[in-house]
Amino acid sequence: MKKLCLLGLFVTLASQSVVADNLPTPMENKDAFISHLMKQMTLEEKIGQLRLISIGPEMPREMIRKEIAAGNIGGTFNSITRAENRPMQDAAMRSRLKIPMFFAYDVIHGHRTIFPIPLALASSWDMDAIYRSGRVAAKEAAADSLDITFAPMVDISRDPRWGRTSEGFGEDTYLVSRIAGVMVKAFQGSGANAADSIMASVKHFALYGAVEGGRDYNIVDMSPVKMYQDYLPPYRAAIDAGAGGVMVALNSINGVPATANTWLMHDLLRKEWGFKGLAVSDHGAIFELIKHGVARDGREAAKLAIKAGIDMSMNDSLYGKELPGLLKAGEIEQSDIDNAVREVLAAKYDMGLFKDPYLRIGKAEDDPADTYAESRLHRADARDVARRSMVLLENRNQTLPLKKSAKIALVGPLAKAPIDMMGSWAAAGRPAQSVTLFDGMTRALGAESTLIYARGANITGDKKVLDYLNFLNFDAPEVVDDPRPAQVLIDEAVKAAQQADVVVAAVGESRGMSHESSSRTELSIPASQRELIKALKATGKPLVLVLMNGRPLSLVDEKQQADAILETWFSGTEGGNAIADVLFGDYNPSGKLPISFPRSVGQIPTYYNHLSVGRPFTPGKPGNYTSQYFDDTTGPLYPFGYGLSYTEFSLTDMALSSTTLNKTGKLDASVTLENTGEHDGETVVQLYIQDVTGSIIRPVKELKDFRKVMLKAGEKKVIHFTITENDLKFYNAQLKYAAEPGKFNVQIGLDSQDVKQQSFELL
Ligand code: BGC
Repeated sequence: MKKLCLLGLFVTLASQSVVADNLPTPMENKDAFISHLMKQMTLEEKIGQLRLISIGPEMPREMIRKEIAAGNIGGTFNSITRAENRPMQDAAMRSRLKIPMFFAYDVIHGHRTIFPIPLALASSWDMDAIYRSGRVAAKEAAADSLDITFAPMVDISRDPRWGRTSEGFGEDTYLVSRIAGVMVKAFQGSGANAADSIMASVKHFALYGAVEGGRDYNIVDMSPVKMYQDYLPPYRAAIDAGAGGVMVALNSINGVPATANTWLMHDLLRKEWGFKGLAVSDHGAIFELIKHGVARDGREAAKLAIKAGIDMSMNDSLYGKELPGLLKAGEIEQSDIDNAVREVLAAKYDMGLFKDPYLRIGKAEDDPADTYAESRLHRADARDVARRSMVLLENRNQTLPLKKSAKIALVGPLAKAPIDMMGSWAAAGRPAQSVTLFDGMTRALGAESTLIYARGANITGDKKVLDYLNFLNFDAPEVVDDPRPAQVLIDEAVKAAQQADVVVAAVGESRGMSHESSSRTELSIPASQRELIKALKATGKPLVLVLMNGRPLSLVDEKQQADAILETWFSGTEGGNAIADVLFGDYNPSGKLPISFPRSVGQIPTYYNHLSVGRPFTPGKPGNYTSQYFDDTTGPLYPFGYGLSYTEFSLTDMALSSTTLNKTGKLDASVTLENTGEHDGETVVQLYIQDVTGSIIRPVKELKDFRKVMLKAGEKKVIHFTITENDLKFYNAQLKYAAEPGKFNVQIGLDSQDVKQQSFELL
C-alpha cells in the first residue's frame, strides 16, 4: 500500500520536475530508482541527506521536525522508541520528496536485554551463542523502530590500557574476523530490509584499537604488512558478510586522519575491497580534522572529508554549513556530493525504507503499552549466553562449584551493582532490570538462603578517579560510594567471612573504567578492593573472586590469594543468575580468554601471536641476552585461549595425515579429546600454525581454527581439522597474499601455550 503511494508520488514529482521523463519510478531497480530520485533533488536536499543528527533529551523536537520536513536531515541517532521516531518520519513524509529518515543507535551487545560485553561474547568461542545475542539485539532494536546500528566493533586490541578493549572481541585476527561475520549476519538476519533486522555498520575503520600506548584517540602508526595481516581482516570479514555500513575511526593512520584518508576510504575500502555501502564519520570527527592539524578551518575539514568519501557526517556541524560554498567556489565537485548522497539513499533502500518508511516504526496502535515491559526482554537467551562467556581462571582444591548447603559470605562493591552488570554501551538496557550477583545467588539458594552480605570496599578510594567516572552523571552518579571509612567496610566484610564456610568477593572495575575515553595506566584491581582481598585472605576461609571488568587485569597477587577466580566480565541483564549458575555448578564453565592477561603494565604487549625474534627467550633457560624483561617472569599471567572447567580434559594422539601438503591438497590434523574428569563439560580445541621460515618474519603461531566440543564425563572424541594452502597464506613485503613453500608447525591445544606439535612441508 505504502509502496504504491510512494511510487505515485515520485511519478507526480518526476512529471513536474525539469527532468520529466514520464517513466514510472523503477522501484525494483535500485540504481535506476536512486538516479531517478536524485535528478529531482535540490542541492540543499542532497546535502540534507548527508547529515546525521543526535537527538538528545534537550533537543527541541519541533525544530527538528521542521528541519526534517525541510529536507535538512538524513537520519538521526539516539532516539530509540517508535513514539519518538514516528513524528520524525511523519515530518520526512511531509518533505518535498518524502525521502524517509533512518534511525540509528549504538546497539553493541543487546538493546533492551543486555548481553555480555563483546569481549565476554568472544570468550565464549561459541558462534551460535554470539549469533543469538546479535539476533535478539536486532529484533529488539527493530521493534523499537531502529534501522541501523553502529556495530560490530571489530578493532583488534592488544593493549588493555585502552578502555574500548571491552567493546571489541580481543587480540586475535582470526577469532575477531569470525565473530565480525557472525555479528553482521545476526544483525542483518534475512536481509537489512527485513522488519526484524537492522543494518550493521562495522567500526571503527580502521585500526582504532592500535592507538599508541592504549591512550584513546591517540595516533596509529603501523607498517602496511601489520595492517593487512593483523588489523584489517576483521573489517573485511564484516564487509564480506554484507555489512551495509562502515563507521570511520577517530584516529589518524600514519599521519593522515581516517576521516580525511583517501587511501583508506577510496583505494582500500572501495576499490580494493569493493565496498558499496555507507561510510559514516564518527561523532564530530570531521570537525576534529582541525585539531588533528590537517584542516585550517571547518571549511577545509568538510572539503577533506567529502573528498575522502565520508558520506554522512555524524553530529554534523560542517557539511550543512560548508558544502554549498565549497561547491560554488569549485573546490569540490558535484560528483563528490552525489556519490555520497547515492550511498545514503542506497542504504535507505537496502533497509527497506523506500518501500515502507514505517517498516520498523509500525502503527501507533501497535506500540508497546510499556516500552520497558518485562515481556519485551529475552532473559533466557541472555542468561544462557552469559554463562557461556565466563572464564574460570583458577580453581584450587575444587573450591568451585559451591555447595548450596554451604554458608556463604558475599562481599565486594560489585555484588550489588546493577549498572555495572550491564557494562558500557548498554544501549536501552535498564539497571533496574538487571540481576545482580546478590539477586542471582539469593534466588539460586532459595528460601533457605543464608547468604551473608557486606560491601567490604568501595570501587576506588581515589577521589579523582571517582570524580572522573561520575563526570557525565552529575544527577545520578554511576559509582556511588559508601561514606563509611574504608576500615569499617573491611571489618564488616571480615566479620561476614568469619561466620561463613566460603567467601565470594565480587571485585574489579566499575563499567565506566572500561569505556570510551577510559584508558588506564594500571591494570590492577583498585587499591581499596585489594585491601579487602588481603583482609579476606587473612581470615583463612576459602576465597572465590568473581571478577567484573572490561579488559585484562594484572592479577599476580590475586592468583596467589584466591582459591578460585571466575572472570565474568560485565555479563548483562541476566548476569547475576548466570554467575550463580556457574558458581553452584548448574553450568560448567567453558569460556576461554580471547586476549592475554599480562602480569604487569610494563609487559604490554603480551599478545600470543607476536613475530619471531633473533634472540627468543626460552622458558627454563637463563634469560641473559634474550628478548625478555629481567625483573619479572616472561610471558602472560594467563595466555590467550586459556580457561578451566570443573572437569578435566586431555589431548592425546595428535596426528597429521601426511608430512607434506600440495598446493591444491588437504591435510587432516587430528587429536583425541577426552573428558577425564567427573563432570560433563565443554572445551575449545584450538589449532595453531607456525610458518617456520618465510620471506618475511612470521608470527610464532597463529590461530587458524577451533572447535567447541561437549563431552560427557569419561567420553572421548577424535577431533579433525582440515588444513589447506589457504590457511598458510600471508601478506608478504609486496602485500601479495600467498603461501610460501617450506616447513610448518601445527599445534593443537586447549590454550595457546600448552600444545601438542607436529610438522609438515608445503610443497
Ligand atoms: C564513538 C562511536 C559511537 C558514536 C555514537 C562515538 O563517540 O566513538 O563508537 O558509535 O560515539 O554514539
